[in-house]
Amino acid sequence: MRNFLLISFSVICAVSIQAQKEFFNPEKMVETGVYYYPEAWNPEQWDRDFKKMADMGFEFTHVAEFAWAQMEPSEGNYDFKWLDKALELAEKNNLKVIMCTPSATPPVWLIRKYPEVLVEIYIGKTGQHGTRQHCSWSNAKFCELTTKMVAAMAKHYANDKRIWGWQIDNEPSHYGSYDYSPAAQKNFKAWLQKKYITIDKLNEAWGTAFWSGIYSDFSQIEIPNTSQLFSGVASPISIVDFKRFSADECASFISMQHKILRENISKSQFVTTNFMHIHTDVDPWRSKDLDFISYTMYPVAGYTKGIGDQGFRLGDPWRISWANDFFRPVKGVTGVMELQPGQVNWGSYNPQPYPGAVRAWLWNAFAGGLDFICSYRFRQPLFGGEQFHYGMVGTDGITELNGGQQYAQFMKEIRELRKLYQPNMRMPSEYADRKTALLFNPDNVWETEVQKQTYQWNEMSHITRYYSVLKTLCIPVDIIDENRDLSTYPFVIAPAYQMLDKILIEKWKKYVENGGHLILSCRTGLKERNGHFQEAPWADAISNLIGSKISMYDELGEDIKAQVAFKEKNYVWNIWGDVLEPFPGTEIWAQYADQFYAGKASVIHRKLGKGTVTYIGTSTVDGKFEKEVLKKTFETAGVSTNEQADGVIVNWRDGFWVAINYSSTKVILNLPKNAKIIFGSRELGIAEVVVWK
Ligand code: GAL
Repeated sequence: MRNFLLISFSVICAVSIQAQKEFFNPEKMVETGVYYYPEAWNPEQWDRDFKKMADMGFEFTHVAEFAWAQMEPSEGNYDFKWLDKALELAEKNNLKVIMCTPSATPPVWLIRKYPEVLVEIYIGKTGQHGTRQHCSWSNAKFCELTTKMVAAMAKHYANDKRIWGWQIDNEPSHYGSYDYSPAAQKNFKAWLQKKYITIDKLNEAWGTAFWSGIYSDFSQIEIPNTSQLFSGVASPISIVDFKRFSADECASFISMQHKILRENISKSQFVTTNFMHIHTDVDPWRSKDLDFISYTMYPVAGYTKGIGDQGFRLGDPWRISWANDFFRPVKGVTGVMELQPGQVNWGSYNPQPYPGAVRAWLWNAFAGGLDFICSYRFRQPLFGGEQFHYGMVGTDGITELNGGQQYAQFMKEIRELRKLYQPNMRMPSEYADRKTALLFNPDNVWETEVQKQTYQWNEMSHITRYYSVLKTLCIPVDIIDENRDLSTYPFVIAPAYQMLDKILIEKWKKYVENGGHLILSCRTGLKERNGHFQEAPWADAISNLIGSKISMYDELGEDIKAQVAFKEKNYVWNIWGDVLEPFPGTEIWAQYADQFYAGKASVIHRKLGKGTVTYIGTSTVDGKFEKEVLKKTFETAGVSTNEQADGVIVNWRDGFWVAINYSSTKVILNLPKNAKIIFGSRELGIAEVVVWK
């Protein structure tokens, strides 16, 4: 298995290096750029602003994503003169350009002339000019007008050497809303018809025998709208289908633009889009036709406490790593298209990031193998809906703000690091041996959201809790689609993988028999792909794989502190507890320590062929229990982990190790004796970074 793993792993590396070579120079490792909106600034300042960017160390700029009104001031009349001028000045200052399609912000003439293009976010509540992402991807007119705009841009900049690559749209989504417009209704029906062919099949899949829900024709179907389903949802899977459809519509809208770009532009220009991290309404795996997927990242905006009393100024230690590991495996390449520059404006409250936090985030992005990082944005805006949002420079347009200084420092450090770059560095074996695939399917998120079963259930929190534990143990992770080859990973984890089928179970079984170590957690395998339970004993689909029956499951309120015992220590749990009845030959690793099922199994482990299966039936809030179980799983497989203090993450990239401290206290790192420190020291203060070879 080991040799096989290594061979396959180098094949993967070769493929990803190939993709990188096309658009990125591996010797640069990471290139850094910044957003600029020439249309919002006095043209006399453009040259000064581009020069300042270059002086600060930026290597590219990013333009035009919201400039539809300026590029097409009236229907069919395109004006790129102003943008050409900006490009000329960017080039003069040695900045490459990422050009963007402006489909997130159609101009007012378009909305007034074709009001049918607007999204309807609830039935009867339409979008309006004056915001963004307010048009329907399903609307044929909107698609036609977008196509024309993108074609005009693509033709104009087809072979323009100044353009490094293209970003399609901006954060494709409706920012948490869904589209219920007539166009979406029509496409949804067509989507269902294509999927189910006959209405009987749909009735069966949607379980419409429940609550008199039977349809006799596709024309009777409406998009299920939870704001109108006021007394529960008759068919949870109808909502999952709608979410699948919406993610497909988004992907088609992106693909449509990609196709026009590719028909016109030079092969040397890349095409990507920028998804928000942890925004499961859209799905990067549906946009695999792009050259790669990039992401946007704002770690500090009042939504997390992080670790310790200053955590709210640093963000969660796992967040940037998650985005790196989530978007990179799609095509083997990713970059941050927007990284928070300092204080922002749109959070519930917007604290100043901790001094040094911006640099720490930059190093975190670097450490995840990213090829580029782009700051949002160069100048703090003087007007518009994001006025309090920091830039690299402040309201005077020239003074570097704190975040800007940290970018400048990072870019200087990267230039130093490039001198030490050596091609084709091999991942150290003790690190590669831990390589873990985390399987992710948005269906499981969508489905468990409809039927949580306990108010404490949050599928993404469950998954990111496991991810966070893996990172604390210094484990390299790829978050991948279940269809990917698993044989290159010594460990595979599928947390709360509620919906699956026989094919996937068979694939897992083979993976384990061939020497892989599979880790599953509660709620796995309960339902088939249409969200139905099996007509069989509970969780029968995975019983043979995990070597146990699941006799029942329990859920508790957040104020109830039930106990589970593992290695002579008790841990508190209250989210979910599967009560297991292992078959002979399956080891019991943890048992419930109280409640009426005290003594029953909570975690089990078994050998199967050359590999092992570990099933963790209990879900806790703080993840301490899960961490200990994962440690034992790796240990039992004979693979060491490297546990870090809470809030510290350590990653390897291109021959360099990077450690970052997201905690609110100083930490002393245990570095190897032969470590050659390049930046920082092993005494890692809050938000500090150490880089070593
Ligand atoms: C992002 C968005 C940008 C800008 C930024 C402000 O989510 O893509 O256009 O609004 O937030 O932080």
